[in-house]
Amino acid sequence: MPDAPLLEFCNVNLQYESVWALRNICLSLKPGETRMILGAAGSGKTTLLKAVLGLVAVDEGDIKLFGDDVRSMSETQLFALRSRAGMVFQEGGLFDSLSVGENVGYPLLNRQTTNKNGNLTDAEVESRVRDALRFVELERAYDKFPSEISGGMRRRVGIARAVVTEPPLVLYDSPTAGLDPITANTIMALIAKERDVRNSASLIVTYRFQDGELMAGFYYDREQKELIPVGEEDPVRKKRTKFIVMKEGEVVFFGSLQELEASNDPYVKRFVKHEE
Ligand SMILES: Nc1ncnc2c1ncn2[C@@H]1O[C@H](COP(=O)(O)OP(=O)(O)OP(=O)(O)O)[C@@H](O)[C@H]1O
Ligand SMILES: [Mg+2]
Repeated sequence: MPDAPLLEFCNVNLQYESVWALRNICLSLKPGETRMILGAAGSGKTTLLKAVLGLVAVDEGDIKLFGDDVRSMSETQLFALRSRAGMVFQEGGLFDSLSVGENVGYPLLNRQTTNKNGNLTDAEVESRVRDALRFVELERAYDKFPSEISGGMRRRVGIARAVVTEPPLVLYDSPTAGLDPITANTIMALIAKERDVRNSASLIVTYRFQDGELMAGFYYDREQKELIPVGEEDPVRKKRTKFIVMKEGEVVFFGSLQELEASNDPYVKRFVKHEE
């Protein structure tokens, strides 16, 4: 069933004392689709991504990941489920004491302990890791440690680690935060390439409007090996990127890039920018 949703949220609520982190959240995501998540600090963006993987327990609602009910799973089952999705954490989350190659290989080894069919030889692991590092154009950093590479390179290693298992769904928490515009664009180009080479679904938290413009307006062409603007006559690609704006745990806007740009809501307008 190629069109079955990979992820579904239905009326999901989570409250921390008097603070709403998630309020009546509904969403659904299919292969190849992108959701850009915008919103002020503390509006619930990270909590939403963590809820997808069962990393936070929500109070109410249904969460289905790959068709499985996340809320009813044991910690062991969740561990296996998480290894089937990719996550780029807001803080980066690389292990400082492991080399770049070991960091990227970690999910493969992790998966082997949870999935009996996932046994790979050491040589196979290394080859997969090198492929993932080549994908983010960092193969030469294989033996380096996170402290020896730049912030932008660490983000790219984080992306390589998230996609090394070729997950059908990748979650990116603020992948461009704190980067200069050129490095940020490089990162977004990689994220678009990941989506288009494998038709994976992506849930992307960002502060940069430009990140959404890139995901909505471009696709990676495998033959030309570059990003190409999405044409007017391409309805599938035109519709697959949608924007979510969160405020105090709630989705206050859901729609296309054009609808976002046309919004008159003062809060929503804060996330629409045209200049760097
Ligand atoms: N473990 C926790 N205990 C109590 N409150 C929490 C916890 N985790 C998050 N919150 C609160 O839930 C709300 C949503 O937090 P979340 O981290 O999802 O925001 P965010 O949109 O990712 O913010 P930022 O843009 O700063 O990363 C905030 O008010 C936060 O203080
Ligand atoms: Mg956050």
